[in-house]
Amino acid sequence: MTSERHVVVEPSVLYVGTPAYLIATGNPDGTPNLAPASSYWALGRMLVLGIEVDGQTAANLRERPDITVNFPSGDLWRSLVRLSSLTGRDPVPEGKRRRYRFERDKFAAAGLTPQPSELVVPPRVLECRLQFEARVRRTTPGLDGSYLMVEAEVLRVHADPAILDPTGEHIDPTLWNPIVYAFRHFFERGAEVGWLASSPTARHPPVLD
Ligand SMILES: Cc1cc2nc3c(=O)[nH]c(=O)nc-3n(C[C@H](O)[C@H](O)[C@H](O)COP(=O)(O)O)c2cc1C
Repeated sequence: MTSERHVVVEPSVLYVGTPAYLIATGNPDGTPNLAPASSYWALGRMLVLGIEVDGQTAANLRERPDITVNFPSGDLWRSLVRLSSLTGRDPVPEGKRRRYRFERDKFAAAGLTPQPSELVVPPRVLECRLQFEARVRRTTPGLDGSYLMVEAEVLRVHADPAILDPTGEHIDPTLWNPIVYAFRHFFERGAEVGWLASSPTARHPPVLD
């Protein structure tokens, strides 16, 4: 029997499925910029975001480290598409000219509402049920110079009460439905298949046999 079950492929992107998020940063004139992104991971209270260097988001967070990271649910996918051809950078950088135009008010362009933050300057996105206020602690240039690895400390988490468990202390993952961005398509997260024994919201330990 052969063990070879795969073929070699050359996908045009390697976005295998991460949450899409909306990152708000502060422009030099005090207005907010808003951008969709998906390069994301978290460990403890630290986020690591992958942000392209030629956008307004990168320029803003290098100068003004306050950010908000807002997680849309499936119903907001059209806002991500509306933002996908907009940059807050004026003039539009050479590398973005083919696909992007400058937009000063990205909240309005996306049909989204700025909501004042409590600890940081940029607003949150009202329509997002899960929002982080965070502060950039370090930016590290990526190997090819086209992106930054942005390490940000989460200072406060805001959640719509509708996604909390009965204690009000935990996000109930069965009620929380982030957009998953995979190979340029948007998905809701699908059915639960299991959980960890360490979950504070699981009703019983996972059954493994
Ligand atoms: C679904 C989606 C995911 C994206 N993911 C990222 C990402 O992870 N990092 C990034 O820098 N740009 C990402 N982009 C592209 C940015 O939104 C784009 O660079 C934009 O110019 C940023 O806006 P700004 O120039 O106002 O900062 C993504 C765009 C979309 C629509």
